Amino acid sequence: MKKLTLGLITILLVISSVFAASNDLEIFSWWTGGGEEEGLLALFAKFNQYYPNINIINAAVAGGAGTNAKAVLKTRMLGGNPPDSFQVHAGMELTDTYVIPGLMEPLTNYLREWGVYDKFPKDVMEIVSYQGEVYSIPVNVHRGNVVFYNKKIFRELGLTKEPTTWAEFFAAMKKAQEAGYIPLALGDKNKWTLTHLFENIMLSVFGPEGYKGLFNGKTSFDSPELEMSLVLLERLIPYFNRDHSALTWQDAGRLVFEGKALFNVMGDWEEGYFKTLGWKPGVDFGWFAVPGTDNAFMFISDTFGLPKGAPHRDNALKWLKFIATKEAQDIFNPIKGSIPARIDADKSRYDVYLTWSMNDFATVAVVPSIIHGSAAPEGFVTTLNDALNRFIVKKNISNTLRDIMWAAEDQGYLTE
Ligand code: GAL
Repeated sequence: MKKLTLGLITILLVISSVFAASNDLEIFSWWTGGGEEEGLLALFAKFNQYYPNINIINAAVAGGAGTNAKAVLKTRMLGGNPPDSFQVHAGMELTDTYVIPGLMEPLTNYLREWGVYDKFPKDVMEIVSYQGEVYSIPVNVHRGNVVFYNKKIFRELGLTKEPTTWAEFFAAMKKAQEAGYIPLALGDKNKWTLTHLFENIMLSVFGPEGYKGLFNGKTSFDSPELEMSLVLLERLIPYFNRDHSALTWQDAGRLVFEGKALFNVMGDWEEGYFKTLGWKPGVDFGWFAVPGTDNAFMFISDTFGLPKGAPHRDNALKWLKFIATKEAQDIFNPIKGSIPARIDADKSRYDVYLTWSMNDFATVAVVPSIIHGSAAPEGFVTTLNDALNRFIVKKNISNTLRDIMWAAEDQGYLTE
């Protein structure tokens, strides 16, 4: 009898633990920083209003641009231990790393069933697709080619016009330096911010079509523009804060916020960050496109997909359906500092910065970011990161060109 009771209790415990586990939802991302985390938590809160019994496990791994998260995710995915859904950039980061190796479930039919298939821009849908199937849901669009600046310092230096050319940009930086400010804040402890800066320089030097052509076989990497881009990067080095290699992107943003630095080139998650620090767009901080790039939009999109073998697949589908809604996108993006991926968002919810970004997204040339996973596969990105990080220490243009060329050749990009 005693044995039977114990047996029954064990069975009940097992059933209840299975039941409890079946109501989890593990969401993997790297959103732990100011702005990013707030946006994610706001999404979770709304989701839980609809599904109060689903227990969200926030499996975020700290480190801007997925510095640490991407490696953790890859190990989990390859080890057959996927989260229920995870953040992944639209483009090659999704397709090359996860879709082609067969690790993701297609979502096309769900998007149709949920009536949202045509609610996203065609071009965006294209880069989250592979062989006609959609593999992830874009939750936002970020712009990468933005210079943020401290308005108080700008005024104090007697600057009245936001620079549109490199000559004007250098003149402003010189003024800042003479007045004892850091002209251009950088925090490249995690490498990617330097590549972020460099891809924007490339965009400026190659122009949108030339830059895009590097990845679609129309522009050769072996072009004088690549060397010109490195020369321009080298000219910027004396204007960085000396401790740049010890700082993160938020630390660099903080230098601007604290009134120590004038400019910072960053994606517009920085506007989300500034807002969480209490700054108001257009009042405390200003922005403009990286010189020579106001005719282009460096495109970055965070998306979520459904890995094969997701432990709580039904909950993951509820999550994906939810983040595809207009409501979720309009909650998340004004906080995150991004614009919605959906085309039918409620524009009145977006501040003056985001309205600027939205207008440009609809009118200028949209080009894919390298460092944020859209343009090129991981192998190329890693080599470029390493080459540039050696470059700012050694300043060796020919070695850096050689390294980039090798990586390009490896990918089969045009190099002649
Ligand atoms: C980007 C990502 C953004 C933001 C940023 C800094 O790669 O797309 O959403 O999180 O990194 O962490």
